[in-house]
Amino acid sequence: MIETLLIIEDEKLLGTELSRHYRAQGWDVVLADSLEKAKTLLLKNRLEPLLILSDMNLPDGNALDFMEAIKKQVSYAEWLFLTGYGSVPDSVRALRLGAYDFLEKPCDLERLDLVVTSATRSASMQRRVIDQTKQGHRRYSPDAYLGHSQQAINVRELLAKLTQVPFSALIIGGESGTGKGLTARILHYGGSRAQQPMIEVNCAALPRELLESELFGHEPGAFTGASGRHRGLLEQADGGTLFMDEIGEMPLDLQAKLLKAIEDHKVRRLGGEKEISVDVQIVAASNRDLEQMSQEGSFRADLYHRLSVFKVILPPLREAVEDLDELVPLFVAEYNAKAGRQVKNIPDDVWHKLKAHYWPGNVRELRNVIERCVLFSDGATFPGQWLQLPGQPTPTGIIKNDSNLDDVDNHSQAKANEQGIYLPLDGNMALEDMDRFIIKTALERADNNLTAAARALGATRETLRYRVRKYNLNTVD
Ligand SMILES: Nc1ncnc2c1ncn2[C@@H]1O[C@H](COP(=O)(O)OP(=O)(O)OP(=O)(O)O)[C@@H](O)[C@H]1O
Ligand SMILES: [Mg+2]
Repeated sequence: MIETLLIIEDEKLLGTELSRHYRAQGWDVVLADSLEKAKTLLLKNRLEPLLILSDMNLPDGNALDFMEAIKKQVSYAEWLFLTGYGSVPDSVRALRLGAYDFLEKPCDLERLDLVVTSATRSASMQRRVIDQTKQGHRRYSPDAYLGHSQQAINVRELLAKLTQVPFSALIIGGESGTGKGLTARILHYGGSRAQQPMIEVNCAALPRELLESELFGHEPGAFTGASGRHRGLLEQADGGTLFMDEIGEMPLDLQAKLLKAIEDHKVRRLGGEKEISVDVQIVAASNRDLEQMSQEGSFRADLYHRLSVFKVILPPLREAVEDLDELVPLFVAEYNAKAGRQVKNIPDDVWHKLKAHYWPGNVRELRNVIERCVLFSDGATFPGQWLQLPGQPTPTGIIKNDSNLDDVDNHSQAKANEQGIYLPLDGNMALEDMDRFIIKTALERADNNLTAAARALGATRETLRYRVRKYNLNTVD
């Protein structure tokens, strides 16, 4: 991409020479011989140069005063100053105002080139961060989490609160596709660290050794194949957020190391001597029950307690079906726009099927279903034949009067009666849904009394309380 260099210089000869030199290097050079002209170019014509190379004293004023006045509106550019009357106070002021560098005239072109190269690198990086942040702000405020069900409203309110407080660690829980990644982005880009990096790592995607060197970094020769120096993700996220997805899959010994880094605010690269200070906000996500895992010993309890000071548990779509009213038209509109389709009418039987579906893959599954239907549409009507949802009655229905457990006509339906519970093992019901169904049934039989239900399930009150919250069930104590 061709970038713009704005040269502000009133000495004709120098201005022309610099222009020719940088044009030959591939810059789009614009030359202004007064501050007034530079101002028009920058503010009126929206020139947006990557670099501004300016003489210090122009016929219509001092370039530092000019910079001070407009720097905020031109935050995407780096400033370099040249001066014939180099003075210490000027250079100090230039740097204090955020100029990249300050060179005395006559400066040789080679030296100027070096400074221009590194200023370009810095400005490009700054611009990328500004672009990402702008996009992030737009896309990831708490309002990006959609839905008007009470559950969705609660999540949004919690996110709005959390983006106002400087938390150091947090857990996001929820089934697959409920928006854990989206929530992590909202927490970062909606919060005070938005200008700093957000770094992501999927703990399930990397083997142990690689995960360790990715997180903590390494020095050259730390292990076979470690040729260069590598700054770890914790270091890269300094000042910002490290999003650790699927943290339940992290090996226990690495969990201990992570906990130490979080508590000491320090990391040591593999094979390294010195400890490096880091200030990182950890957002951890898992679709597994970390509390239960920590009780069973498959997740470190101390790390769990450190991370779970704040928890955001996202509801499954099947428990917030009214959100479909908002999500479906929005996704239809989105894929209409992406694929140039015109789906406008959603027939009643389609709504009926959408609302009856169990949505094991939650909002992600919904998105995919809508995408397929919109892509295959030819006209204004939503093509229900492409829904392809398995005809699945909701498994949470309790059959009160039907005591015949051998009546297994409908394998996809879970049933409960006085004697026990029937759960279909035909792949239609996910393990987690069975878990929910069992707990819901036990609670209903115990008149929603948590202690009694825990006793019936042979579980502790704590375990049950966590799941009751996770599954959004009711209890009386
Ligand atoms: N409440 C919501 N509002 C808007 N979009 C949502 C919502 N929940 C989920 N989505 C969208 O659904 C898709 C899946 O969400 P996301 O990837 O965040 O889920 P996840 O919980 O991280 O899933 P997994 O556990 O499989 O990683 C994304 O496109 C996301 O933007
Ligand atoms: Mg995810």
